[in-house]
Amino acid sequence: MIDWINSDDIAPYIYMRKENLFEMPGSYLKDCDWFKKKPIYKNPLRMDEVAFGDQILNLETKAFQKASLQMPRWVFYDCAIIPGFVCGFAQKTKTLSESFCRDVGVNTDLEWTPLSLFIIIPTIRQGEWVAHNLCSANSLVSDKDKKYALGFLSKAFGLWYANVEVLCGITQWQSPAIRLHSHYGPFEILTAYTPIHTIARTLTYRSRLNFNYWQSFFDSKNAPITTNYQYSGITIDPKNDESLKSLQRQIEEEKKKVFYLKSHEIRTQDLDAPLKIYHI
Ligand SMILES: CC(C)(COP(=O)(O)OP(=O)(O)OC[C@H]1O[C@@H](n2cnc3c(N)ncnc32)[C@H](O)[C@@H]1OP(=O)(O)O)[C@@H](O)C(=O)NCCC(=O)NCCS
Repeated sequence: MIDWINSDDIAPYIYMRKENLFEMPGSYLKDCDWFKKKPIYKNPLRMDEVAFGDQILNLETKAFQKASLQMPRWVFYDCAIIPGFVCGFAQKTKTLSESFCRDVGVNTDLEWTPLSLFIIIPTIRQGEWVAHNLCSANSLVSDKDKKYALGFLSKAFGLWYANVEVLCGITQWQSPAIRLHSHYGPFEILTAYTPIHTIARTLTYRSRLNFNYWQSFFDSKNAPITTNYQYSGITIDPKNDESLKSLQRQIEEEKKKVFYLKSHEIRTQDLDAPLKIYHI
């Protein structure tokens, strides 16, 4: 699938308190055979592991700087480490290139350096989780240091490992991240305009996970069959508040109908292009 994932110098990591560890990881999406390596385990409640956590935060701070959405240190602890699951991919520090170390700001004393971060938190609803954070070093380094699908596979690993069935998430219209988020299952819109968020032009989504969608990230010719998607008659302009508010009003009013976006359209269109809204 992707070469770097098989490298002996790269492995998934888990940064999670011991009491939260899963008894049977990977038991929900049984078709997924992508993650064969034993993850590196780091315990965030141990003082000696703090340097690894510092590197995660360093990556996160830099990745979200442009959007001014960096996570305060206490949010990482109170809202991620204590209730949820923190993971990603890590690489043996001595095998990182000089340019990667410079661009990311790597601590060369550590054996392993986090390359990405994915955080999920369980919700009150059975089997439903919230994606709280996703970032990848690809957003900080030059093309020669990028690992294709690092962000996508970091999220996939976390969802697979934690046996997530249904995932909610929060992203911004026109963000490149929307191209990844829409490839884990049918992409339902929970909110199209969200003034309670720091950024009102925020999209809240929900997906029931479906491995066919995951595979289609790499092979769009085998995109999941979407003939059951019916065009709702609504097309939104993701850069226009009035258009997003109008869809939001319909979401609030429509009690039975659920609105979806098509992953293939999001992936292949410009990020600011109009998007058709569907029912299933
Ligand atoms: C969003 C983010 C996690 C994506 O991770 P990544 O490792 O760069 O992306 P991947 O390699 O997994 O996926 C590549 C795909 O994502 C999309 N993509 C990634 N970066 C993109 C960009 N800058 N512009 C447009 N599309 C982009 C493309 O669809 C691409 O695949 P394709 O070219 O075959 O279509 C990463 O860019 C990041 O950390 N951004 C800053 C933090 C952030 O915004 N996080 C998301 C919060 S909701």
